[in-house]
Amino acid sequence: MKLYDLQVNHLTNPIGFQMENVTFSWKVKEAKGKKQKDARIIIAEDADFEKIVTDTGFCGDLRSIGSRVEMGLEPCTRYFWQVTVRTDVDGEEETSETAFFETAKRELSWSAKWITCDSGDYKAEVSSRTKRHPIFEKKVSKKEKVAKARLYVSGLGMYEAYWIPQGEELTDNLLDHEEYRIGEEYLTPYSNDYNQWVQYQTFDVTEKMRSESENGTLAILLGNGWYKARFGFSAAEDIGFYGDEWKLIAELHIWYEDGQEEVISTDDSWMVRRSTIGFSNLYDGELRDDTLEQLPLEQARLADAPKGKLTERLSLPVQIHETFTPVELIHTPKDEEVFDMGQEFSGIFELKVNEPAGTKIHIQTGEILQQDCFYNENLRSAKSEYIYISDGLPKTVRPHFTYYGYRYVKVSGINHLKKEDFKGLALYSAITQKGTVETGVPLVNQFLSNVRWGLKSNFLDVPSDCPQRDERMGWTGDAQVFSSTAMYLEDTYAFYQKYLYDMYQEQLDLDGKVPDVVPSCGVESCACVWGDAACIIPWNMYQVYGDKTILENQFESMRSWVDYVSRVDGDNHGWRYVFHYGDWLALDNPNGNIEQVMGATDEEFIANIYYAASAGIVADAAKVLGKKEEEQYYRALSDTQFQIVKDEYFSKNGRCCVKTQTALVLALKYHLTDNVELTRSQLRKLFKDNGDKLKTGFVGTPLLCNVLSENGFSDLAFTLLLNRDFPGWLHEVKLGATTVWERWNSLLDDGTISGIEMNSMNHYSYGAVTDWIFRHVAGLDPDKNHPGFTRVNLKPQFNWRLRKADASYDSPAGLYQSGWEMTAPDQVKLTVTVPFGCEVRVMLPYAEKLLSRRELELEKEEFQNPIFSRVEERILILQPGSYELAYTLDQPLKKVYTVDTPIQVLLNDSDVANEISKVLPIRRIPAQYVDRSMREIKEEIYSGFIPDEIYQKALDFFDNYNAE
Ligand code: BGC
Repeated sequence: MKLYDLQVNHLTNPIGFQMENVTFSWKVKEAKGKKQKDARIIIAEDADFEKIVTDTGFCGDLRSIGSRVEMGLEPCTRYFWQVTVRTDVDGEEETSETAFFETAKRELSWSAKWITCDSGDYKAEVSSRTKRHPIFEKKVSKKEKVAKARLYVSGLGMYEAYWIPQGEELTDNLLDHEEYRIGEEYLTPYSNDYNQWVQYQTFDVTEKMRSESENGTLAILLGNGWYKARFGFSAAEDIGFYGDEWKLIAELHIWYEDGQEEVISTDDSWMVRRSTIGFSNLYDGELRDDTLEQLPLEQARLADAPKGKLTERLSLPVQIHETFTPVELIHTPKDEEVFDMGQEFSGIFELKVNEPAGTKIHIQTGEILQQDCFYNENLRSAKSEYIYISDGLPKTVRPHFTYYGYRYVKVSGINHLKKEDFKGLALYSAITQKGTVETGVPLVNQFLSNVRWGLKSNFLDVPSDCPQRDERMGWTGDAQVFSSTAMYLEDTYAFYQKYLYDMYQEQLDLDGKVPDVVPSCGVESCACVWGDAACIIPWNMYQVYGDKTILENQFESMRSWVDYVSRVDGDNHGWRYVFHYGDWLALDNPNGNIEQVMGATDEEFIANIYYAASAGIVADAAKVLGKKEEEQYYRALSDTQFQIVKDEYFSKNGRCCVKTQTALVLALKYHLTDNVELTRSQLRKLFKDNGDKLKTGFVGTPLLCNVLSENGFSDLAFTLLLNRDFPGWLHEVKLGATTVWERWNSLLDDGTISGIEMNSMNHYSYGAVTDWIFRHVAGLDPDKNHPGFTRVNLKPQFNWRLRKADASYDSPAGLYQSGWEMTAPDQVKLTVTVPFGCEVRVMLPYAEKLLSRRELELEKEEFQNPIFSRVEERILILQPGSYELAYTLDQPLKKVYTVDTPIQVLLNDSDVANEISKVLPIRRIPAQYVDRSMREIKEEIYSGFIPDEIYQKALDFFDNYNAE
């Protein structure tokens, strides 16, 4: 047996994070036993476990997905812990490796003062003294024998800390000393509602302080960042929303082996050196001019503290993950030199330079080429560039206080540009991959890769809408619709926890209202579906991670959002009548042109449903937390609101009167109709009338395939997924996308961009269909009554065209695997792995005939009692272990096509349509005839459409295809 993935508050060996409670979690693999009998957690102040702080003893109620242990927490203290697990097999017991967590300053007061320097005027020249980004520095003389050392630090807008060990005054350029960086983090102290709180980080600098030289300089470089440069909706004004002054606070604590402690704190004795960075902001990039002269040192000044409270961090570190070298250096028709990185991502880059002094090197980034040339007009006002002016010395440069969402890089000013001199560095928060799926269709696999890159690109501290244009904000709607997909792909608990904390900080100032973007940078508008993120994200997290701490932490946020909506709603449905984005970007707006944004689904209908649904979530959360009164109140509110929707939008026979794909999806998802069959057939007909193509936007798309599968329309869901033409998920893959587009038609079929007003190639929202791929295609659907993935209802959806799906998901409870492969049109092979302590209920599709155990080859030992306990319902109850089984389906899943098949059905199967098109151009058959078959067209309409010779070829094609 092995114990792994030891976490505290869903973080691995955290240092300096905010900690109200301490929740431990772990996973078990390779055990003989099937489940945990007892566990014991020991926490100590030392790695040898001599100074024990808490010992739970063996108990039966410590849960591996999260066990809170009550303990006092001292400031600046590292705690070591181990867990021991006993299983249901006698004598099987294992103790984990030692893990740790370390507190920050907690309630300790700061001896350090906030300091500043002349902070520049936005209109000043970039070379002016006050615009040159400051390096605050302090010489430090240490004593012998450092036991441990920590740096507690925050700087606004952004900071990078360095320790320069020479002890000399820093005469050469700090920017050339990457090796002296403290901590491997970028863009600290990250993005917040700085008016409410400012995060500080804790860095373990023990090794640096122990290093050879006695003295050194602590140097901290500041940039503008989200705090003090243009960002968000006030970006046009070119000033920072939160402040206009550089500010720094830092304490370097050195503990010596003789027990003494020394603290070096920021104060007005610190000096300020001006760097050669003259400009930085997130949208426009950065400028560094190494020809600038060194300026005399200035004295730092004491500064007013920022408005927000200095608080321990919640943000995960933003780090460099993948690095890319260009796949090609393109010389474009416009004579540009452009690197193609082969993949769109977010991050920075490194460039080796060796040009004569005064050379200006100009880098610009873009997402696509147009007419084979560099293109960046869809970034709108974001310049997204990097300018470097060389001092003639060879060096490697990188931006410090910005990031880019890019695939293409235009470089000018370098003679003999080489691919090897450029390296793309993907930056995102420290999340770990948890889930993967592979199917039998390469385009789908590429789509899944695009979704993951969409996630990585937009998980840079804040769940953002996009990483490239003048936006890059934490849009609540986008975050909400993508959250359940994200939870399958990566470990997201800590990431979303920080976002939700920020959300509540904003609500505190807005009477419960959830602004459209978080952090808001002053935005106060809000809307349904977007603001409902306050309820939906924490509830998704509880379902997936099974730790009710998230509900405790967010309950006030959730409740105050619903209360806000109630107040606006008043007695007259006021909530319906405020502005809502509705089914944003749906394709069914009757007046729509290519740039239209509003869908056809009645926004009032959507608003009322989400109001009711969020109230229901608050009631569910209250139930989990044992808050009886709240549960009753919000349940009644939810029921009333759902009833209002039913009364108003459904006929007395249950017919939904809002006739759009999205409306009917909502009706089925929220069980709004008393006539499910009628609603299903309404939905089916709408699709049929639209050639089985989707029209849904931000509201409908994320729910669409799940609802289809849950209502018996998996086949249609597959048709939608596998459609390679506009509109559909694979259309963009076919056109070369490496991330997910914002619009169904971001690029037109010929690769031309459809518009530049609002058109990103890296918007993860529509990637939300991935939830369906895990949940229904692979079948890993967690049981709602067993939060934390301790029980999964596995009902995979087989499909001949997809051929196979193989998913693995390292869930909070352990590693699941579920795979199926169709080895023949009526044969399937299934593999399942159930983690320790968990259970899978397999519901076999197309298995009516499998009524006896023998047919399932159940003589195999692993399928013995009580595993296959509900034969009649074809439910296999699987205990921990790995299983394989193969069976013959009740019916072949490969479709049989003939000359009697309606043309539309052929068109919907893109593989078949492509093949037949070689014989007969079916895509050119007039729209009014596509619901007819070839035979009907030939015999009843006009035989000239399909000459005899072609008809014969079609007959041959079908014979061959069906026989294959
Ligand atoms: C963003 C979104 C967002 C939307 C609000 C856009 O500019 O990029 O994805 O949700 O505005 O409707």
